[in-house]
Amino acid sequence: MCGIIGYVGTDRGDDALEVLLDGLSQLEYRGYDSAGVALADGGIDVHKREGELAALEAALPRERFDGDSIGIGHTRWSTHGPPSDANAHPHTDATERVAVVHNGIIENYQSLRDDLAAAGITFQSDTDTEVVPHLIGRSLDEGLDHEAAFRAAIDRLEGSYAIAAVFDGTETVYAARHESPLVLGVADDGHFLASDVPAFIEYTDQVIYLADGEFARLTPDDLVITDANGQVTDPSVETIAWDPEDAGKSGYDHYMRKEINEQPTALRECFRGRLDELTGRVELPELGDLEPRRPVTFVACGTSYHAAMFGTRLLQDRGVPAQAFLASEFDADRVPIDAESLVVGVTQSGETADTMRAIREANSVGATTVAVTNVVGSSAARETDDVLYIRAGPEISVAATKTFASQQAALTMLAAALSDQRSRALVRELRAVPDQIQSVLDASRAREIAETYHGAEAYFFIGRGYHYPVALEGALKMKEITYTHAEGFAAGELKHGPLALVSEETPVFAVVTGDGKLAEKTIGNVKEVEARGTPVVAVTDGQSDVERYADHVLEVPATSAVASSIVANVQLQLVAYWTAHELGRSIDKPRNLAKSVTVE
Ligand code: M6R
Repeated sequence: MCGIIGYVGTDRGDDALEVLLDGLSQLEYRGYDSAGVALADGGIDVHKREGELAALEAALPRERFDGDSIGIGHTRWSTHGPPSDANAHPHTDATERVAVVHNGIIENYQSLRDDLAAAGITFQSDTDTEVVPHLIGRSLDEGLDHEAAFRAAIDRLEGSYAIAAVFDGTETVYAARHESPLVLGVADDGHFLASDVPAFIEYTDQVIYLADGEFARLTPDDLVITDANGQVTDPSVETIAWDPEDAGKSGYDHYMRKEINEQPTALRECFRGRLDELTGRVELPELGDLEPRRPVTFVACGTSYHAAMFGTRLLQDRGVPAQAFLASEFDADRVPIDAESLVVGVTQSGETADTMRAIREANSVGATTVAVTNVVGSSAARETDDVLYIRAGPEISVAATKTFASQQAALTMLAAALSDQRSRALVRELRAVPDQIQSVLDASRAREIAETYHGAEAYFFIGRGYHYPVALEGALKMKEITYTHAEGFAAGELKHGPLALVSEETPVFAVVTGDGKLAEKTIGNVKEVEARGTPVVAVTDGQSDVERYADHVLEVPATSAVASSIVANVQLQLVAYWTAHELGRSIDKPRNLAKSVTVE
């Protein structure tokens, strides 16, 4: 996720460049691949570099900025165009009258870009953001003042944005937001804006959260917020009580909890511009002209493999032959793939060595390859024919949480596209998932379950159909962060061996939704363990009578099997998180594990 910062200081204020660089370093946790600043005292000076902040700092002619008091800065997490100096923010209009930084995705950027190009504008980058300074520039040409030109540009944007702009020769920073975070800071000697409080908490703990659709005008002595109609609002100033040390986690104890809570936002980003409710079509232009109904082979590891299993079933249910391989077990000499095959590598990081090897083997036999990944410009993105980005934003905690939900969502859309399926019902169900996850986050009783069972000998997870990969993922999360034995099973397999393990000390988590055949059969398996005195926790939507046989219930909203798998998994993430919390484990960095596994 990109990070933005802006500062406008009084004469007594701090040096803007120092404030911006400090702020950007506090936003590093969001993940980034390039960074830049624009200082705006008598002319606009833009400096930006691909790579780490240190690369930007090294490139800055410091003495030139000494004493500047106005500027904006940015850390870029690529979405449109690879990491590069040119694609880094800030972006300017052709004559550098305005510089702009942006976090979010401008959905209608292509049509805006086409219009601007037709009017003679030459673009310097591949980004969606660059349309904004050019739109502002066009309005300035037409005689609008800075604020009117800024508002006119924002009015033309569709999608998500937190945007800040500085103009040549003024002491003002303008900002606007829609569905991307933006917080303002109020200090005696200046005003701040940023994607997140840590960026300026060193300078002030007085903040105003800008609401969707609002605009802000920051000057050294004044901060004015207006609504979409230009009416001045009366915002409340809040005092942040965080220790600066904790601020990178936005007040959460752990990145994992923060990332679990970010899932509604992550999924909205994943769906943005890709679901057409009118036609029921999924629009994935990034897949080019992949012909539908071609047999699909997935390769992936760990959590991503569970997502690949989910994707396999989605395709099979739509009549498309599909199989999933653990990437470490994939061997192109043994698996019948050839130039007609479609091989999909599912990898959050895009760098996992086993998955990359499998993708390279598939490339070497001439198969068409697709990466489903979170990281723009990653090895997987570069070495495959097409890329479907899951847009989850950076995940810091070693345990994958929001990226799994986003993989499930992306693979559901991929399966619809590859089977050439239109379904308004599916589009409606997917659109509802972010709110359903929010309702789970707001009301989950997972913490009580963790308080009751954190001393267990082992944990078992069962599910059928789409809930089978969720059972495996629930167990993986539990074992990796609690260091307690946990296993997931296809519910029907229980009586073929694992049943010997269940006891009063081994809670069984059963994912049961709907009231169909699969639910009925899983309830049969629940009865088998309940009869042996084993505690049962049902993750359920209340459509079946599984509650009669369960000791505890974790509720999820009623929806389809596909959508409820995404939502039910959140309850299991929370159980694992709170259990690890009870046990005092190192939640974000579990022992022996790394976020990105770059060795085979
Ligand atoms: O980056 P990848 O998705 O390729 O990583 C694969 C696995 O290492 C990863 O999913 C791992 O299982 C999770 N971090 C566990 O939570």
